[in-house]
This record gives sequence, C-alpha cells and structure tokens, in this order.
Amino acid sequence: MQLKNHQYQIQSIPVLDIAHQFGTPLYVYDADKIVEKINQLRGAFPNINLKIKFACKALTNISILKLMRLNGVEIDVVSPQELQLALHAGYEGKHVTFTPSGVSFDEIETAVAVGSMVNLDNLLVLEKFGQLYGNSKPCMIRVKPNVAAGGNAKIMTAHEGSKFGIDIRQRADILRIVEKYNINVVGLHQHTGSDIKEAEAFVRAADVIFSFATDFPNLQIIDLGGGFKVAYKEGDATTDMQNLGKQLSEAFLSLSQKMGRELQLWFEPGKFLVSEAGTLLVNANVVKPSPNRTFVGVNSGLNHLIRPMMYDAYHHIVNVSNPETTQAETYDVVGYICETDTFATDRVLNEVRENDTLALLNAGAYGFTMSSHYNSRFRPAEVLIYKGEAHLIRQRETMEDILKNQVLVSL
Ligand code: LLP
Repeated sequence: MQLKNHQYQIQSIPVLDIAHQFGTPLYVYDADKIVEKINQLRGAFPNINLKIKFACKALTNISILKLMRLNGVEIDVVSPQELQLALHAGYEGKHVTFTPSGVSFDEIETAVAVGSMVNLDNLLVLEKFGQLYGNSKPCMIRVKPNVAAGGNAKIMTAHEGSKFGIDIRQRADILRIVEKYNINVVGLHQHTGSDIKEAEAFVRAADVIFSFATDFPNLQIIDLGGGFKVAYKEGDATTDMQNLGKQLSEAFLSLSQKMGRELQLWFEPGKFLVSEAGTLLVNANVVKPSPNRTFVGVNSGLNHLIRPMMYDAYHHIVNVSNPETTQAETYDVVGYICETDTFATDRVLNEVRENDTLALLNAGAYGFTMSSHYNSRFRPAEVLIYKGEAHLIRQRETMEDILKNQVLVSL
C-alpha cells in the first residue's frame, strides 16, 4: 500500500475504492508483492539448486496457491485438506510436500498415494513407513536440531522442549529403523520457528542437519523450513537474506561436494512470501472517548486477525480515509468481539472519524487462515490485486455458512 496523489493505493487502485466495491472487513492481497518476495528469495541463492515450497498454512486461498504455482513455487502442506486445496489450485501430487505433526498414519498414506513427498516426524511413523513401503517410496525425515530461535515462545519449533521432529539425539534410532527396512530417505528437514531474524540461527540448525546428511547415501534434499522474519513495523529487524544466502550457500556447497553430487536446497517460507502482501481493511464503527483513552471500535476483531491477541503481534495501522491530516491522535484500536480483542494500544493515528476505513498492514500471513466464526460472525471476504485489477477470491459469507452442518435436532 502506497500513499500516492493524496490517497493510499495498491497497484494504482485507490484502497478506498476497493473497500467501497467489496465492503469491509476485507483481506486484500497484492500479487506483485508476493512475486517480488519470491524473486528476492531466489536472488539470495543464485548458485544453489533451490526449491521454494510455500508453507500454505499462512494463506490457503486457492487463487493465491495458483499464483504461487504460476511463479514456479511448490507447496508445503500440513493436512490432507491443505493437500486437496493444492490439487484444486492445479498442483500435482508430486509438487506437494506433506509435513505433518503427529498425525495418524492414514494421512501419510493419503499423501503418498497422490505421489507427494512426506516428512516423517516421529519414530513410530518411520517404522510404519518402512513396514508398508520398504524402499519403494521416497521420504524425508524431520529432525529437531535443538536450536531455540523465533519471535515468540509460541512459534519456536526446534528447541529441546518442542513437540516437532525427531530429536537429533535419537540419531542412532533413526538409522536403525532406516537400515532395518532399507527406507529410501531422500531428504532431511528441519524448521526452527517463525520470525527468526538472526541468520546465525539458521546456520546453526543447518549445521546439525548437514552433519547428519552423510549418513544417508540416497540423500538429495536438505529442507531448512521457513521462519524468515518480516518487518511488522518500520525499523524492525528482518532476516538479512543476502547475508543468509551467502553463509548458507557456502556451507551447502561444501556439503554437496562432500556428498559428491549436487543437492537440492528447499525452503518453506510462509510469512516471508505473503505477510507484507496482505492488508486487512476494516471500518471504524465507533470512536469512543473515555477519561484516559479513546477507543476506536472497528467491524472486525480477533475472529479475523488473532495475531495481536495470540502473540502480542504488532500490526501497523493506517487511517486510509484521512491520509494527510496534520491532526494525529492516540487511540486504542479494538474489535467488536465480546471478549478483549485489542488490535493496538496507545497507537498514534491520523484523526479517526466514524466510518473511516483503517488498514491493518502485514496481515497476509496467518490472518484469514487463523480466522474463525467466533461470536457467529462472518469471516472477511478476500480480494487479490493482480495486474492492476481487483479480483474477488473469496465471497463474503452469509448466514448459510454459519448454519451449514448444524443440525436442529427434534427435542
Ligand atoms: N515449515 C513448517 C514445518 C512450519 O511449521 C511453518 C510454520 C513454516 C514452514 C512457515 O513458517 P513461516 O515462514 O511462516 O514463519 N501463526 C504464527 C506462525 C506459526 C508458524 C507455524 N509453522 C504467526 O502468526 O506468527
């Protein structure tokens, strides 16, 4: 979103026009931004056989998945339902990696049946995989390297106390099972967490995986997960992609040399690809002065964007309806849910009037996908701005969506 000719625009379309055309609350995604991020990631690893697998849990709208596909990005899923969405968006099973956590084995069979790669995250499924498939199907193993990094304790996934992956200290057990069934392990995977700014954390986790790689003669793939940090506010530290690219590429190339062949490096970014591209547009229902603060109550809440309440996440807020005033005031921006659902506290915004449209920035990742029907309210509609045009990619819900699958029993 840019301020141009006295108005906020996305790809030259005035944001207020988008809000008027489609209504609010509304998630709007800028396709150009997504493509820019894809290219930025590729550009950081110019000498590497790199594959990007979009961690689609961040944003699963099938039109976004199609955009990823058209830009050569493959996909990482965590449930059979995400797998189905990927297929709906035109992916073939072989372009999909299934990286579940603690699922029943039949989900793994479902993914294998459509030709997807699976990341096995515990010894029990590794054993079952060996029993059922022997060495007839490839698989990857998710390792927990015991590296603690990430923006917040809730989104760290590779530390000693985390449920994810097989602890690297169980290396001997992994190898015993692999040998027993001659399992065709073609890749090793790890995902450290989300919002990681230090390149050093990625390098440390990679070192653990690299040191394990030589135990697998068929290894082709190293998957280092996602977790690159994006800037939620101005001046926020982000992962320095160029520096990360340089450091990891060196270590990766020397591993390839040691293994005697060119390996593939995979990443599974979610936030990095879609966070900045997304904006949640809401309207101010009320401006409510009270003795020590002024609340702006908007037509949205934690049912649409849970990140502020769940992770204390900061989302920058802009008053799109009042772009150039010199009158700024301090507000608490709150939702309309019957529970505390604060988007921002003591936030300085251009004066907010009833019905003004506010934009919550950086809402593309884990925004809509974590939304709910709490308070039996509709979830937002979604719009994709592609080649200068606004496309509705999810209709606004109706009461039928809330009632769907409910049964009024005869009592
Ligand atoms: N790969 C795996 C195995 C993951 O579990 C995740 C995210 C990713 C990749 C992508 O991570 P990203 O690049 O988006 O940081 N809802 C939280 C983030 C949870 C991340 C869960 N796993 C939030 O809104 O901050």
